[in-house]
Amino acid sequence: MFSIFSSKKKFLSTGLLDGMTDVHCHLLPGVDDGMPSIEKAKEAIKWLEQVGVKEIWLTPHNMEECPKNNRKYLQEQFELFLKECPSGISFHLAGEYMLDMSFYDRLNENPCTLGNSFLLVETSYMSAPADFWNMLYKVTLSGYTPIIAHPERYMYMEEQDYRQLKQKGYLFQLNIMSLCGVYGRLPYEKAMRFLKEGTYDLIGSDLHRLGIYRQALERLKVSTKEIALLKPLFENNKSLK
Ligand SMILES: [Fe+2]
Repeated sequence: MFSIFSSKKKFLSTGLLDGMTDVHCHLLPGVDDGMPSIEKAKEAIKWLEQVGVKEIWLTPHNMEECPKNNRKYLQEQFELFLKECPSGISFHLAGEYMLDMSFYDRLNENPCTLGNSFLLVETSYMSAPADFWNMLYKVTLSGYTPIIAHPERYMYMEEQDYRQLKQKGYLFQLNIMSLCGVYGRLPYEKAMRFLKEGTYDLIGSDLHRLGIYRQALERLKVSTKEIALLKPLFENNKSLK
C-alpha cells in the first residue's frame, strides 16, 4: 500500500462490495492457474458471500498454454462446479482471451463472452502481439465489444495506446488489487491516475487465490473521492448482460 493519506476508510467497510457483480474471476477450479480444487473454490465462495458478492462471471484463461479450454470443456467444468458448489452467488461462464497466436481460431469457435456482446481480452504484460489492433478489430467484426482486462498492468502500453483504445470504444476493466500495489508501483500509479481521470468502465477481482485477494482487500483503504469514483464501475458491472 503506497497511500500516504490517513483519512481513508477501509475498503471492506465502504459497502462497495454489497451486491457486487464481478466481471473477472478465476474461481472455476482446475481449468487454469486459478483455484486448484473444489474445496478451495468453496472456501473462496464462502468469503465472497460474506463480503456481499452476488454475481460472478467466471473467466478462465483461453490461451495457447491452456489448450483444453474450449467452450465444450469449460461448459462441462462449469456445470460440475454448479453442482458441487451450491451458494447464494449467481454464476455465469465467460472467459479471458489472450491475444496470442491461437486467438483468431478461438474467436471463430463460439467464444465464451460476457453476456451476448462483450469479450474480455488480455495480452502479455511485456509486449503486445504484432497484430494487436487487427485482433481487436476482428473482435468487433464478430459482433463483440472488447473489454481490456487490467490495462494498468501492461508495461509496454504508452499514453497514445490507451487513448486509441478508448477512442475505439473498447472498455477498460480495473483490477481491484491494482489499487493496493499488489502488482507493483507502476500498475498502482497507472490505476490511480486512470481512476481519477474516469478512464475505467468496469472493475474486477481477477481472483486466483483467496488468500492474496483477501489480504489485499483487508489492507486497502480508499478516500471519499475514490469511493465516489469506484461506485459507477460497480454499477456498470451489473449492466453487462
Ligand atoms: Fe485474469
